[in-house]
Amino acid sequence: MMNTMMNQDELFKNLISHSKEYGFIFPSSEIYDGLAAVYDYGQLGALLKNNIREYWWRSMVQLHDNIVGIDAAIFMHPTVWKASGHVDAFNDPLIDNKDSKKRYRADQLIEEHLQKISDKIEKEIEKAQKRFGESFNRQLFVETNPRVLEYKQKLETLTTRYNRALNNNDLVDLKNIIDEEKIVCPISGTCNWTEVRQFNLMFSTQIGSVSAEADKIYLRPETAQGIFVNFLNVYKTGRMKIPFGIAQTGKAFRNEIVARQFIFRMREFEQMEMQFFVKPGEELQWFEYWKQTRLAWHKALGIDDEYYRYHDHEKLAHYANAATDIEFRFPFGFKELEGIHSRTDFDLSAHQQYSGKKLQYFDADTNESYVPYVIETSIGLDRMFLAILSYAYTEEKLEDGTQRVVLRIPYVLAPIKVAVLPLVKRDGMPEKAREILHMLQPYYFCQYDEKDTIGRRYRRQDAIGTPLCVTIDQNTLENNIVTVRHRDTMKQDNVHINELKNYIYEYIAIEPLLQKLHQHARVLA
Ligand code: GAP
Repeated sequence: MMNTMMNQDELFKNLISHSKEYGFIFPSSEIYDGLAAVYDYGQLGALLKNNIREYWWRSMVQLHDNIVGIDAAIFMHPTVWKASGHVDAFNDPLIDNKDSKKRYRADQLIEEHLQKISDKIEKEIEKAQKRFGESFNRQLFVETNPRVLEYKQKLETLTTRYNRALNNNDLVDLKNIIDEEKIVCPISGTCNWTEVRQFNLMFSTQIGSVSAEADKIYLRPETAQGIFVNFLNVYKTGRMKIPFGIAQTGKAFRNEIVARQFIFRMREFEQMEMQFFVKPGEELQWFEYWKQTRLAWHKALGIDDEYYRYHDHEKLAHYANAATDIEFRFPFGFKELEGIHSRTDFDLSAHQQYSGKKLQYFDADTNESYVPYVIETSIGLDRMFLAILSYAYTEEKLEDGTQRVVLRIPYVLAPIKVAVLPLVKRDGMPEKAREILHMLQPYYFCQYDEKDTIGRRYRRQDAIGTPLCVTIDQNTLENNIVTVRHRDTMKQDNVHINELKNYIYEYIAIEPLLQKLHQHARVLA
């Protein structure tokens, strides 16, 4: 059975249990029944996460001689979050259902409602398509069918009103929309709602031994501010010339109201962010560069094009002059995976104002000082992990009628690169296999397995996404030839052990991928 025959909810459930069963992701503190929206990465998950981070870090920092990487602290001076706008505006509108006692984001309730109206339009179209067959004219139908026109009109009016309420922070109107549209709680099925109120997503704690308001600090809700406050340090000590970038990966924390969809929306997560500082006026050209470069980074992994799309923002934050998301087709639909934003001089100017320190770049060619503009690329490491897993997870029916679950993780990201398997547990094969294992271990993450039939061992490796299985048999003992079995095609090659290391390298190395990206970046620049 291929995934296409399975419904997406089922697929997602299977993927979550598979992740746990094979040591990729565990609920946090599970023996105490877990902690909502917090997860731990297991023995294979930690490896996959490291590989994704390394792919990002090397593509950004190693491949660009004008990008450097830093590692700023999670705790920062509280004024940072005042300057960035997070203290005053990093809020979500919150609403409770009085019957189920469940808490929701008012904006999400309304957006789901809008989606339902949109789905109704699609259903009408599908029905008509079936009825009219070949002669169906979609455009004509959409422009003339009274029911579709009614839904479209409603969708437009409601979307405009909703966007206005959200932009104006009009919590009363958000509540009115929920009441008027009779949006119900999915648990209780009632419209018995509280008022909508703002909820700040930052976690706070106290620093030092005296717990007073003055000592209140926050767990960073994004890594970007650690870059902005170090702009001057890096620019001066690194002798950087504009345009240049500062990259960093690290934990971020958000007290998400509704945490759903596994590791898609977590309370503790990791970001990989890069701020690219440019001359004012040149930002849109760099925005375009980064938009293309980041999509190329995703696609270089070999995942089909139809998994990705851009979502250009029509409604921009007041400080941005261009913004786009790279969306990924998760099992629950297309959702944001990465954001690319042209943020003007908003952040540096705000920090300049709040800190009283001049955060400017001196251009020796023009003898001018200015606050640089910034293009930001920001991707969640955990979300990227979920994208890779949901692409990779495949339930497959084989030609001989048997089934296998295989994780088609791009080879360069696979947690275990090679499995070393003696065909049988006797005749000196385990000893020979261990010799080969020790030869490969300094280069690649390997697993040794001698338990069960070779077929079952192949299945276990398929289930964790191991690209190559090296089998040691009689031919190895006599001629030093091993069999290398490929995960996706299940094809087998005979390889001499003297060539094994290089043979493996060809399939799993990150360097050729980086080389491809490097060429792409040079063509664009
Ligand atoms: N500095 C910009 C910034 O933080 P964002 O859109 O709030 O922008 C950037 O976050 C990326 O971080 C998102 O595209 C997503 O991949 C990831 N992300 C945000 N909130 C997350 C959460 N609660 N759980 C997991 N990943 C999250």
